[in-house]
Order: sequence, then structure tokens, then C-alpha cells
Amino acid sequence: MTTSASTPSRFGFASHLFCRECGATAALGASHACAECFGPLEVGYELPPVTRAAIESGPTNIWRYASLLPVPPGIAATPNTEPGWTRLARADQLARELGLRALWLKDERGNPTHSFKDRVVAVALAAAVEMGYKVLACPSTGNLANAVAAAAARAGIRSVVLIPADLEPQKIAATAVYGGTLVPVNGSYDDVNRLASELADDREDWAFVNVNVRPYYAEGSKTIGYEIAEQLGWRLPEQIVVPVASGAQLVKIDKAFRELIDLGLVADTRYRVFGAQATGCSPVAAAFRAGHNVVQPVKPATLAKSLAIGNPADGPYVLDVVRRTGGAVADVGDDELVHAIRLLAATEGIFGETASGVTLGVLRRLLADGLLDPGAETVIINSGDGLKTLDVVGTPAGAGAGSGTGSPAGAGPIRPTLEAFEAWESAHAAWPAPPGGAHEIAAAGKTLIS
Ligand SMILES: Cc1ncc(COP(=O)(O)O)c(C=O)c1O
Ligand SMILES: [Zn+2]
Repeated sequence: MTTSASTPSRFGFASHLFCRECGATAALGASHACAECFGPLEVGYELPPVTRAAIESGPTNIWRYASLLPVPPGIAATPNTEPGWTRLARADQLARELGLRALWLKDERGNPTHSFKDRVVAVALAAAVEMGYKVLACPSTGNLANAVAAAAARAGIRSVVLIPADLEPQKIAATAVYGGTLVPVNGSYDDVNRLASELADDREDWAFVNVNVRPYYAEGSKTIGYEIAEQLGWRLPEQIVVPVASGAQLVKIDKAFRELIDLGLVADTRYRVFGAQATGCSPVAAAFRAGHNVVQPVKPATLAKSLAIGNPADGPYVLDVVRRTGGAVADVGDDELVHAIRLLAATEGIFGETASGVTLGVLRRLLADGLLDPGAETVIINSGDGLKTLDVVGTPAGAGAGSGTGSPAGAGPIRPTLEAFEAWESAHAAWPAPPGGAHEIAAAGKTLIS
């Protein structure tokens, strides 16, 4: 990043693309791979001076940071889903539970389709429109599908979304409702991604947000980092734990922190970045542990479908970030992620999806392994909504459609009488514990969910 008093173009203050591998530069436009070495391209900027006051006077969505993104001036007035400015929730009860001094949760459920993907899609859409693409498309592990279909509907353009056929029903329904083209594919996300790459070469007016428009798309995740710093009162946290699928979110949060330091908007304080994966799809964690710089692809097998990318595009760059900042990448199994979803819900009233369970589970693991400092201020990303991965937590006995007539003290629903309630109460001698120890949460889960 360089700063100058340039005037914004149709890509704002973005000035060029450059290769992350060899550094070769390219003009802004529809390329995503380096002509010299096929390495991934990244957006570079010539930024004017940017002040806190200018940002603070902007809209309460990601466009308050428009001058730091590859989007045209005036983007805020175009039809878009206006994502971002999600709350940074102080999580004191969870912190006490974990033995942490100060914990914050960046709650990405507050976005229009309930995950951070609305941010990246909004930036990709803006760039795609500037480049003359006519269709917004993506391969997706679920949340991106929701975000692309919604953003395209709002902008009045066509969407084509490719998903692995075995995604969670909630994520499929919450994509189809927007009326775009939804194509379930027999195969893993990595298979779907390969098909999307072939289609991107074949269909010249289709913008696959995370394939041929990827340099612009990925920049959208910087806004999570900007917001965290601004919401902390223009300073950086000491530790941050971020879920890793492709790895783009983690890499871009780090890029955002470094930009804020370079612009003089925050003090240059030390921060450590940690990555979270599910054990059933943990190629980056495995490479980190082995001390490797390359990531060996895996075949995913995990409940955390949103993180099930076996061949992560940004994997090596995640390793660079965590090693440079003194962080780590770790993983947790399916039982731990489900337990963490319940713990977060019971301690803070926040129902995250499987990726959130992975992130909190890994936070606990890192604390137990002594890799995370319990005395340092920590932020975790709650990247998506538990209502989209309902099946992993189940439905309490006797509740919901099809639960039958039941009996007062049994597993079914009760009659609407005081007597029936008291019979139920005495059969369930132990009420679920209030937010407390991990064992109590597990016990509460057993009481309510049989
Ligand atoms: C809820 C959620 N969290 C985290 C991620 C990981 O994002 P990235 O691919 O940028 O690593 C995804 C990716 O699909 C996601 O859906
Ligand atoms: Zn290159």
C-alpha cells in the first residue's frame, strides 16, 4: 500500500493488481491469476490520507470503509444488501467460564443473510458490475450461496449458485428463496469449485465471485478487521481467533490491521492471529503442526460443512500470517464443536453455526494447550448463524412438529394443566444449570435434548 492524493477511479483508490507469489503487477480488471507464475492476484492501492472522522461520518455498513476497498465512489447509493457494522459483543460470562480476562465476539449473524459472506459478495458485486459482468455466480459451502443469491436479487441481476448436494437443508432453502438458479452437484465442495473454474473460463459474462473476481471479493473481509478496531475505540485486540475454510477471511483481517497501522488510524501494537479448523477438514492446522509451508489437500468429513474446503486457496498465506504474528492454527472434533455451540448459546445468548462452534472450540483448545494468553484481550469471530445448521443441536424431546401426544412425565408434550406441569417438573428433578461449568452445560444439553 502506498498513499498519495489520487482521485478515485471506478475501483476507488485501488490502483493495480499484484501477484502474491512473484510480485508482478497487472492492470485492474478481470484477471485473478498472475500472467508470469499463475500465482493469486491481490488488489493494491494508492490511498489518500484517511481520517477516523471521515470514516465515522460514513454509513453504518461496510461502505464507511469504501475508500479502502476496490469499489466506485457512490457505491453506498447503489442497490446492495448494505452488510456490515455488526456488533462487537463483550462476552463476560463466557470469558469467566473460560478463565479469560477479556473476550469479545464479532457477531456476523447481524449481516443481511446472517453470515460474513454478505461483505465479500457486496464488494465482488460492485467490481463485477464495473467490469461489465452480467451474472453473479459462485461455488459455495452454503453461506456464500445465500449471500450471492440475495445480493443478485437486490441488484436486479441473475445469479447462478453451485453447491454440494448434501448441504444443510436450511442453507439450501435460504438460497432458493431468492429465486436465482441453484444447482446441486454430486460431489464435495472441491469438486464444485473445479466445475466453477471450468465454467468461469467458458462463460465470459459470469462473475464467479470467489473464482474470477476473487481479488476483489476477498478484500471485503478486510471490513471485519476495520470494524473490530473501530469498535474497540480505534485500537487492535491482542489476540484474535478466526475460522479457516479457504483462509481468505483470516488473511484479510490481518491485512486490515496492517493497513490501519500504516494509515496511522491505530497504534502499532502487537497482535496475534489464530486459525480454527474442524479436525475432519484440517489441512492448514496439519501443515502448521508439521512446520510445512505448503498445505496438503484432504477429503473433508466434518459436521462443519461451511468450513469443508479440503484444498484451501489461501492456506499458505494463513500459515504466513499466524507464524509472523506468533499465533497458531488448531482444530477440534465434531463433539467439541457441538459442545461449543451450546456453551456460547447458554453463556451469551448467541446461537452460532458449526463454524462458530469450531472457532470457540479451538479457542478452548488453545487455552488448554497454553498457546493463547488468558490475560490478553481476545476477539473471536462468530461468522454465521446457528439457525442455518439446526440439525447438529437437535430439537428438545416433545417439542416441534410430529412430537405426538406424549405423556405428562414422559418424553412427549404435556397437557395444558397445572397438574400436568407439576408432574413434568417432578420427573425432571434437575433444571438445566444456569451458565456454568462445561459439565453443567453438557448436562443441560442432556436434560433438554434426549
Ligand atoms: C460461516 C463461515 N465461517 C467461516 C468461513 C471461512 O471463510 P474463508 O473461506 O474466508 O476462510 C466460511 C466459509 O464459507 C463460512 O461460511
Ligand atoms: Zn506471479
